[in-house]
Amino acid sequence: MAVIEVIQGDITAVDVDVIVNAANSALAGGGGVDGAIHRAAGPGLHEACMKIAAEKRKAGASFSEPCPTGEAVLTGAFNLRCKGIIHTAGPVWHGRGESGLLASCYRNSLLLAEQSGFASIAFPNISTGVYGYPKDLAADVAVKTVRETLPDCPGIKRVLFVCFDRENYGLYQTRLS
Ligand code: APR
Repeated sequence: MAVIEVIQGDITAVDVDVIVNAANSALAGGGGVDGAIHRAAGPGLHEACMKIAAEKRKAGASFSEPCPTGEAVLTGAFNLRCKGIIHTAGPVWHGRGESGLLASCYRNSLLLAEQSGFASIAFPNISTGVYGYPKDLAADVAVKTVRETLPDCPGIKRVLFVCFDRENYGLYQTRLS
């Protein structure tokens, strides 16, 4: 069974096979952790995201949302030390049952990492910044979904939750202790 850990820090600096980006459904880049990852990875990452978006649109995805909320796509890591970056768009919080979509982000990212042969993965606190998802509710979904999905991911040996702020760090520590 995989080890599940939590640290407080910058996801662009952690030593894992693949990091997860809290992206948007257009894969257009942005602020927050999306901005930090794009800055650290360099311009090649934006080009890779645009290429995936174009391929998805050609395959029938909607023009504005080539990577619909809850789905996950993989790119290279460019200037980052990890081997890959998984981009997933979390739900914007409206208080109307977004937990299923947030759970899909964690589940689909883990399954994609497993399929891609990665052994370690780092998650940010998806949707808890700009998208306004309450941090405690998001932490519940994240920890529960990862624990439920790991039995289907025998190749994943380490899951790291990377919290940028103290509040999230405390919430994950409580749920993982
Ligand atoms: N490392 C780890 N976590 C980080 C980092 C970092 N370098 N920078 C920010 N975070 C944290 C935030 O503090 C927050 O807890 O990532 C979490 C997610 O916040 P956002 O980055 O705002 O992401 P989200 O709420 O999912 O909103 C996504 O914001 O940046 C845009 O393009 C992105 O449209 C998308 C939206």
